[in-house]
Amino acid sequence: MDDLKKFIWNMPKAELHLHIEGSLEPELMFALARRNKVEIPFATVEEVRDAYQFSNLQDFLDIYYQGMSVLLEEQDFYDLTFAYLTKMHEQNVIHVEIFFDPQGHTDRGITFATVIAGITRALSDGLEKYGITSNLIMSFLRHLSEDAAFATLAEALPYRDRIIAVGLDSSEMGHPPSKFARVFEKAKAEGFLAVAHAGEEGPPEYVCEALDLLKVDRLDHGNRALEDAALVMRLAESQIALTVCPLSNYKLAGVTDMRAHPIKKMLELGLKATVNSDDPAYFGGYMNENFEAITESLNLTKEEILNLARNGFEASFCSDTEKQAMISRLEAYGA
Ligand code: ADE
Ligand code: ZN
Repeated sequence: MDDLKKFIWNMPKAELHLHIEGSLEPELMFALARRNKVEIPFATVEEVRDAYQFSNLQDFLDIYYQGMSVLLEEQDFYDLTFAYLTKMHEQNVIHVEIFFDPQGHTDRGITFATVIAGITRALSDGLEKYGITSNLIMSFLRHLSEDAAFATLAEALPYRDRIIAVGLDSSEMGHPPSKFARVFEKAKAEGFLAVAHAGEEGPPEYVCEALDLLKVDRLDHGNRALEDAALVMRLAESQIALTVCPLSNYKLAGVTDMRAHPIKKMLELGLKATVNSDDPAYFGGYMNENFEAITESLNLTKEEILNLARNGFEASFCSDTEKQAMISRLEAYGA
């Protein structure tokens, strides 16, 4: 395993499913709470980490939205994003596609402009200092209304050149993709690509809706698609990528034993599965820790590891030329 760990660590990788607010480590949460004079209900970093015990998605989301309350100024969003990029540089991640949840901030009185300025300034520094390329995805909170999503889309239009896609996240059960079909139709007409969390906790029907009604270019999670054989065939034929998040699935109890994690099965079924961290500060690991966990529990070979990394580059929203350059780097590494 030590040899494989080293192989994973040094391998060039892309991350396609990362909520920037979910990369807020307890240490930075405390520092920002102090800087901004925000009260948080924890006395120590250890207390924060101890609170990260989740039995489902909603348990996590309650703590995740509370954690965001320390983010107030443009510099806070910069520090958050740059800390993540520094970590990715250490882990040999060369391309990232990052979600942000504007409604988690605008609903607290922070302007859309503040959020996007801090994040995009860090992304351009990440390119300059680390050579990490990036794309930004704006997610709608699905527990909020269609009207609220439309208003958020309108706020995003002036920043159209900095946002590559729209996404859909937050509480899945009871908030099917169909609720946002019209918003996604408008977003697509405005030139955004589309992704959506589907089949994380929700049934295979939600995955079908994400494909048919939201016309997603990529699916986030998609685990429960495996319950529907026809859907599996459709995903295999279309090669729509799944951004799978192994440690997240484990921490949110969608998968109770990592040895039963479905990612290896997905590959065997011909699905384009990728490895991602989702909310690494909350789920116990970034990209390399996710690769390590599945490699260990599923006995993955170097070939399977390389295959997953290649899928990450292929499923990115980069141009074909950019994808080919990254894949060539991976191939050179594998050889
Ligand atoms: N927001 C942040 N992480 C999420 C996840 N794993 N599922 C849904 N919404 C989220
Ligand atoms: Zn997610």
